[in-house]
Amino acid sequence: MIKSKITGLGRYLPERVVTNNEISTMMDTNHGWIVERTGIEERRWFTPGKETVNSMAAEASKMAIKDAGISTEEIDFIIFATITPDYFLPGNGVLLQRELGLQGIGALDVRNACSGFIYALSIADQFIKTGMYGSILVVGAEIQSSALDKSDRGRSSAVIFADGAGAAIVQASNGEEGILSTHLHADGDYAEELYVRDPGSSRKTRISEELIEEGGFNLFMNGNAVFKHAIVKFHEVIMEALDANGYKPEQLDLLIPHQANLRISQFIQERLKLPDHKVYNNIMKLGNTTAATIPIAMSEAKDSGRLSSGNLVCLAAFGSGFAWGSALLRF
Ligand code: COA
Repeated sequence: MIKSKITGLGRYLPERVVTNNEISTMMDTNHGWIVERTGIEERRWFTPGKETVNSMAAEASKMAIKDAGISTEEIDFIIFATITPDYFLPGNGVLLQRELGLQGIGALDVRNACSGFIYALSIADQFIKTGMYGSILVVGAEIQSSALDKSDRGRSSAVIFADGAGAAIVQASNGEEGILSTHLHADGDYAEELYVRDPGSSRKTRISEELIEEGGFNLFMNGNAVFKHAIVKFHEVIMEALDANGYKPEQLDLLIPHQANLRISQFIQERLKLPDHKVYNNIMKLGNTTAATIPIAMSEAKDSGRLSSGNLVCLAAFGSGFAWGSALLRF
């Protein structure tokens, strides 16, 4: 049976490093609070006029294409996970397609926030297994910093979210290695616990002074609700992936959790009884880049030797929606 295999990985991080001390000059917070509650020491924010979601995605994609050892023309389809597109319409998939000179192939946008990359990977997996496509570019790229309320009102989320892009080439393979299964879930009862309300299409006007004042254009997060659900669902969906394939947590070589918050990752690590070297975290330096965290982490892990051919790897995510998911793969 045809399997889908990740054959190349890439990433792009904005050059601008924003430390907790710099954030403390914008709002009432401090390095100690941020590190204790989130584990984040610094993050990257884009520079307007220099970086866009599309330019970051293109750089990450070029690195992934090179890593896979294929030519750009071999890509049959693009899946772009982002909730911070450059335009309200059209989506970022077509912009990336144009940038890479791949006019004519299909391009799909996925809007499942922090779980976006897992959803996108799962879609790629289905297309490949059915034989519809042979090589798919899957991207997660976000600019969150321009949606953050950098006043005291927004401080609980402004310290967490950041910018960046990651990309993977997913290809058909007949070997043992590849994606073993993917598991997707959502519960819309919690849609407003982590959301950006505006510009909502169902209003009389999409933009007004009043709406701006209300803060609907900024990211709103009920941090406690997110934390409470995340620690349960992360564990459930990782176990679902392992059970589906007859594995136990101790057989994992590497868990790459969506980088929501270091405390969440540590909580899951403890419940699964995994040693430090089996869990990949980079939130300390990069913050939470929503759909981009997993492909960025995979690309870094591969380059640093922590992710190698043949490894049993679990990817897992939880976020806005609430939506959550996992993928188990033999890398
Ligand atoms: N700096 C300093 N103090 C802050 C702050 C900040 N950046 N943000 C919030 N606080 C304050 C609150 O105002 C509150 O003060 P009070 O007790 O005087 O009212 C206090 O810290 C505790 O607030 P609370 O919201 O209960 O903190 P918490 O321990 O839940 O931590 C989060 C807040 C956001 C760090 C935590 O809820 C969390 O990690 N949630 C999950 C977030 C996440 O993973 N998001 C990504 C989803 S993909």
